[in-house]
Amino acid sequence: MVKKYRIGVLKGDGIGPEIVQATMDVLNALELDFEYVELYGGYEYFKKTGKVLQDDFFDVVKRLDAILKGPLYTPPHEKEFKSVNVLLRKELDLYANVRPFRSFKGFSLKDFNFIIIRENTEDLYLGLEGFYRGVALALKVISYEGAKRIAEFGFNYAKSNGFKRVTVVHKANILKVSDGLFRDVFFEVAKRYPELQADELIVDTAGYTIVKSPESLGVLVAPNLYGDILADVAAAVVGSLGLCGSAQIGEKMAVFEPVHGVALDIAGKGVANPIGELESAKLMLLYLSQKYSDYKLYEKALKLDVAVRKTVEELKVLTPDLGGDGKTIDVINSIIKLVQLSNA
Ligand code: NAI
Repeated sequence: MVKKYRIGVLKGDGIGPEIVQATMDVLNALELDFEYVELYGGYEYFKKTGKVLQDDFFDVVKRLDAILKGPLYTPPHEKEFKSVNVLLRKELDLYANVRPFRSFKGFSLKDFNFIIIRENTEDLYLGLEGFYRGVALALKVISYEGAKRIAEFGFNYAKSNGFKRVTVVHKANILKVSDGLFRDVFFEVAKRYPELQADELIVDTAGYTIVKSPESLGVLVAPNLYGDILADVAAAVVGSLGLCGSAQIGEKMAVFEPVHGVALDIAGKGVANPIGELESAKLMLLYLSQKYSDYKLYEKALKLDVAVRKTVEELKVLTPDLGGDGKTIDVINSIIKLVQLSNA
């Protein structure tokens, strides 16, 4: 039987294969109308084949509705090996990196629900670096169009998800031209959304506010580097990097992956927290449900959310990053059981 949605699965490096497989087990329990297509790429794949992605990667991707992805390793000591994540973002034009941060009762410092929307294709991540007369230089690239589309994405996201406040993050007091453009375009776009509160935070104050009063925040719109750093700060405020998921969205494709990296220190030990990957899968269900007006998928996303929250907050089936002694499989079994109960 032909399935309704075709989902690419790129398992990734380090803990990637463990947490992606765990997530697939939960998705299967949700009884979704999904056909899965395995994709190959990353550092381990490169070591085996000499290629960072399978040859026909981008042809296969054209026939998919979304991609569920594990983290990919970019070894900092191998100067020739460029980030596959950055390559995917550029090639698929995944310009909006959406990272929701919602408190978990008993683990987070406060009660909050805010979103970091990070511009995903420009800034220092273009990797335009070099030496000039013995001085190392890196180019920070902010375009008018890039700043405009991420600001519009931020305001639209706030509108359709019930947020009232949209805040631009920058360092325009120092970087008057590049961050200045990002800021100015944001406020130009804001005029079209008078029903929303538009304001600004200097990036250092944004970090402080995320820790001190996260409950005051709504949607934060940030250039690439600041968004990357602030997301890890926000994950610590939630309680663990292992609890946070993300969506990378472009006009034609969307890729869903956890906020954390490959966690080589715990890879293969069966103790990785799978919830960041599961949260990413939930974002995928919400994305598809919105894009195709598929209410059933929205219901499945809610079921998954309830099962995850109950497992962590009430049943306290926890991996070591949350202070527990549970294994990945214990967390997954609890979530699958709750999902099956809600299916019945
Ligand atoms: P990391 O996120 O891999 O690990 C930081 C700490 O958090 C470690 O102690 C790790 O054990 C813990 N942690 C992370 N995820 C966890 C989980 N699911 N369960 C329990 N504990 C978890 O950050 P690190 O070490 O800075 O990054 C390692 C590599 O990961 C980087 O060199 C980079 O190549 C890659 N990376 C890939 C990303 C992606 O594919 N989107 C994002 C960030 C990093």
